[in-house]
Amino acid sequence: MLGLRKKYEICNNNNNYIWISIILILVLLLQMQNKVLILDFGSQFTQLIARRVRELNIYCEIHPYNSEKFDIDNYSAVILSGSPYSVRSDQVPHPDLSKIKGKKPLLGICYGAQYLVHFFGGNVGSSNSREYGRANLSFVDNTNELFHHIENNSQVWMSHSDTIIEMPDNYKVIASTDDVKNAAYKIIDEETYAIQFHPEVYHTKDGKQLLENFLVHIAKVKQDWTPDSFVESTVKAIREKVGNDKVVLGLSGGVDSTVAAVLLDKAIGKNLYCIFVNNGLLRKNEYENVLDQYEHMGLNVKGVNASDRFLEKLKGLSDPEKKRKAIGNTFIEVFDDEAHLIEDVKWLAQGTIYPDVIESVSVTGGPSATIKSHHNVGGLPDYMKLKIVEPLRMIFKDEVRRVGKSMGIDPELLGRHPYPGPGLGIRILGDITAEKVRILQEVDFIFIEGLKKWNLYNDVWQAGAMLLPVNSVGVMGDERTYEKVVALRAVESTDGMTADWVDLPYKFLQETSNKIINGVKGVNRVVYDISSKPPATIEWE
Ligand code: XMP
Repeated sequence: MLGLRKKYEICNNNNNYIWISIILILVLLLQMQNKVLILDFGSQFTQLIARRVRELNIYCEIHPYNSEKFDIDNYSAVILSGSPYSVRSDQVPHPDLSKIKGKKPLLGICYGAQYLVHFFGGNVGSSNSREYGRANLSFVDNTNELFHHIENNSQVWMSHSDTIIEMPDNYKVIASTDDVKNAAYKIIDEETYAIQFHPEVYHTKDGKQLLENFLVHIAKVKQDWTPDSFVESTVKAIREKVGNDKVVLGLSGGVDSTVAAVLLDKAIGKNLYCIFVNNGLLRKNEYENVLDQYEHMGLNVKGVNASDRFLEKLKGLSDPEKKRKAIGNTFIEVFDDEAHLIEDVKWLAQGTIYPDVIESVSVTGGPSATIKSHHNVGGLPDYMKLKIVEPLRMIFKDEVRRVGKSMGIDPELLGRHPYPGPGLGIRILGDITAEKVRILQEVDFIFIEGLKKWNLYNDVWQAGAMLLPVNSVGVMGDERTYEKVVALRAVESTDGMTADWVDLPYKFLQETSNKIINGVKGVNRVVYDISSKPPATIEWE
């Protein structure tokens, strides 16, 4: 009897082990996130790959090819980016793919495709014909899953000077173009695919479908990255991270800080202390309107009107960088004074977004960090000793807007143009006085309200007015005037890195100019800026 019981217990224990193992495996499988790793070899298109993947509602991260910051076990599929390098150069990035190739579904793009040939027994050489721009795919294997829902002859975009001359034995060509024989291939017995063209660019007609085929049909990655799921997981993560601690956040009136605040508010409610500083360089009525809006949204926000303090610090300064510094330093002083009034605050929240934190790979040296210092509340003094929480750190600007929309933030607020931190301080050329601020606020107000009235506001990425440090002669009635010149600027852009001036209707410009000259005392001439960036910049200072 005892023996039987023993056997039963052993059996039971074994069963328990099996169950525990099954549960552990399930937990591990569940934790095996639907994350895609993009290994960056420095291509100008790498962020675009990430954008396309996110558009498929799949979460992905970009890491430099030589980063040690990621654990490959956390990813369900890997994409190798393009590169400005040639695989044949001495400086070539040569990452160890032993944990990836043949073990995870892998897609090599352009340089990634050549890399998988060059370092695994094939031959890559310089190409005889131009391989930039449009080409058409001709399937060698039209049943291949990579081409699901893609028609033969589909347009793709090429951008490479090297070409794959000879493939290793176990590589099978699945598509060619007129000039590129090995335009797409698969490695036999591996979920490894590679394409010479760029599926991430707009001109590759079925690029998004191809990425979906690879990620969803071949790699079986789930499409569960939605604004709602982001809100849910981020709120949970914030709660776990900051617990019952107090968090302080500087609101700017812009999209990023507002969305970050609403997320934190959802997570920790009144333990979030928002500070909205009026530096006196905001748009007309902006301080009152935005503060009112924040209060209506239920945020725990304190408005601090420090206009005089800023103006005092700016007195007599004309150099743009000195003005920027003065504005930045005064902001820190004001913010610090206010943060000190919050007893026992432990965290500083920031609206940093993904493009600000992606490490870019430089062509000449090692990977370098590109972090825009002028954004957010960067550079707070060390003695504040606040820990940092950045809930938007892993998402792109348009995703920030989608997240904001899913949390019910006013679409008008989410659609606002970007506005520089130093505000009118870098749009008043030369030194700044209260009178100049008044003039420019009026001019800017007429311009922006006009854009809205004419339904042009959403066609423009950023708009504003500049007060020039020159007077010009005019005539009003019978009187000679000698007053200020203002320049209006409206640009289209996607990220502010490059921009072009917007071809606003003449009638609109005419109406705006009349309104400004008739309505704003001190201005007698309006010009419209028709410079692109580069070579000009968006702001004049
Ligand atoms: P630029 O003038 O460099 O502007 O072509 C590109 C984008 O950056 C904004 N910008 C700034 N934003 N602090 C900011 O927060 C600054 O000092 C600053 N300077 C320029 C500019 O408004 C545009 O969106």
